[in-house]
Amino acid sequence: MSDKIYDVPAEWAKRAFLDDHAYRAKYEASVRDPEGFWGEEGKRIEWFEPYTIVKNTSYAPGNVSIKWFEDGVTNVAWNCIDRHLPTRADQVAIIWEGDDPSQSRSITYQELHDEVCRFANVLRNRNVEKGDRVTIYMPMIPEAAYAMLACARLGAIHSVVFGGFSPDSLAGRIRDCGSKVIITTDEGLRGGRKVPLKANVDAAIAKASDVEVDHVIVVKRTGGSVDMKPGRDVWYHEAADLVTSECPAVPVEAEHPLFILYTSGSTGLPKGVLHTTGGYLVYASMTHQYVFDYHEGDVYWCTADIGWVTGHSYIVYGPLANGATTLMFEGVPNYPTNSRFWEVIDKHKVNIFYTAPTAIRALMQAGDEPVTKTSRASLRLLGSVGEPINPEAWEWYHRVVGEERCPIVDTWWQTETGGILITPLPGATRLKPGSATRPFFGVIPQVVDAEGGVLEGACEGNLVIADSWPGQMRTVYGDHERFMQTYFSTYPGKYFTGDGCRRDADGYYWITGRVDDVINVSGHRMGTAEVESALVAHPKVSEAAVVGYPHDIKGQGIYAYVTLMDGVEPSEDLRKELVNWVRREIGPIASPDLIQFAPGLPKTRSGKIMRRILRKIAEDEFGNLGDTSTLADPTVVDDLISHRQNKK
Ligand code: WTA
Repeated sequence: MSDKIYDVPAEWAKRAFLDDHAYRAKYEASVRDPEGFWGEEGKRIEWFEPYTIVKNTSYAPGNVSIKWFEDGVTNVAWNCIDRHLPTRADQVAIIWEGDDPSQSRSITYQELHDEVCRFANVLRNRNVEKGDRVTIYMPMIPEAAYAMLACARLGAIHSVVFGGFSPDSLAGRIRDCGSKVIITTDEGLRGGRKVPLKANVDAAIAKASDVEVDHVIVVKRTGGSVDMKPGRDVWYHEAADLVTSECPAVPVEAEHPLFILYTSGSTGLPKGVLHTTGGYLVYASMTHQYVFDYHEGDVYWCTADIGWVTGHSYIVYGPLANGATTLMFEGVPNYPTNSRFWEVIDKHKVNIFYTAPTAIRALMQAGDEPVTKTSRASLRLLGSVGEPINPEAWEWYHRVVGEERCPIVDTWWQTETGGILITPLPGATRLKPGSATRPFFGVIPQVVDAEGGVLEGACEGNLVIADSWPGQMRTVYGDHERFMQTYFSTYPGKYFTGDGCRRDADGYYWITGRVDDVINVSGHRMGTAEVESALVAHPKVSEAAVVGYPHDIKGQGIYAYVTLMDGVEPSEDLRKELVNWVRREIGPIASPDLIQFAPGLPKTRSGKIMRRILRKIAEDEFGNLGDTSTLADPTVVDDLISHRQNKK
């Protein structure tokens, strides 16, 4: 914990929408009268039919139901595109920067309109209708945004799957939502390397054989050779040639689903987080405006991938709803060199830059020179998201990247929350490195103890949110019971975030990380149970337990304890084989960093694995294992300690 405080820079105090006083007043109003507050704020988007009911939400045990603006009718693509055309047709909507630094493009709002309509017509010609699910498995190219917006235009529900996921993971997601149409590219391109996206789709469809996939729409990106299955697969450019650039936006109810995004939890397979139309867009738009203090003409860049919620809310929907210029980057921070981010900032005169702590830490290790040799004169604001940012990385980001003139907004939120919930506002909030600071409008965080008692003042415990906000997820796709069980049963009547947190005497929140069996590896959320089930699927593995451990760059690394089948000998080769196996089963982001072969795992007499002990050993804190007397066989612990894997 750092005790430094950074005041709002004078320049920011002048230009920002809100100062501290205005923040406090607006926050008070938002929680005193949510109906009145959101009733006004809902007007920031256009409605075909206005709403008369603002908030209709209940966290009641067994009966959780969340509806915002429920009798309003609108369309997300209309709001992100068409309504801007009278004033912004020639303004750049999307700046695209390719993996190869010589490739970039600018797409105006008029061009965005035409491209999205064409894409929507291609989908419509393949019978995609309101409510149908469409899986999008694409690299970071403008067509990915067109595809999302085309679904929204038709009222179809998109499910974007990160391009780094394996065919198996993709198959599970296709099956879960029963999508009949998949949009992909021949290949992706990242850091100069090709990713066989279409081949992965073919493999996934073969695995999800119980789902009938009618159409695979393939955007040509690299020109690499792919198999096209006649009747099922179609080249996007050929289909797009046959349609017009006009397609009416389908009016949908505020609570009509906009997208499903799969995310990891502590148990079971990833769940389909469902977001809907009206409340989601109002919240994404409002947070984008205030958190990034977005003003007319600003160039805004969020480095996330559209496969994650950050890409949904803060590359596509929030910025475009606000008529912003949003930058989409296909590549990676260290290709071709460690200066890439800063060169892109100079090339496109980026004013607002939003990235993840893991990228900051990796670039920090490369030293100051790759940063300082660039200008970055256009930069005004820096943002951080995805995991706790350690004060050292915060200070470096502030001093070296932002030259002490750019505030940092450390934004805490989740796939489930749809938008940012705890964050500084650059003109209003004094910053403390490592703290996400204060709640956004309408958000009521509470810190509770293990029994659910609400703690007051400076305290530490688990983070819950006491009442609904418009961007909140509505359900787990196809499984409302699981939704209620996962988020509303631990502390009945409250939304449980799964995060631990401390609140200081100034009322600032410090997120300390997950308190469940979710780990956060390079800002990617991973369920330990998913990695375990991939490991035990290997024929030589009898049992596996996975925990996180502190990792200098990734935040957390993946530590796997593996018990082999009788008669199988541990070896370095087997270790490599298991790492590759998990990469293939889930994707490279799930590769275990360390594997320890363990003849036995610490279990209670009833057979439950004691993860607390495994976590401590992985963290090298084995002097502090706590009570081990309830173990069925306490001697396994000594063996685990003596064979623990070296972190360096
Ligand atoms: C963590 C990403 C600390 C947290 C938007 C949360 C953070 C999980 C922060 C959600 C932050 C996200 N400080 N921790 N600023 N932002 N987290 O669903 O543990 O991929 O529960 O959403 O990331 O990850 P998800």
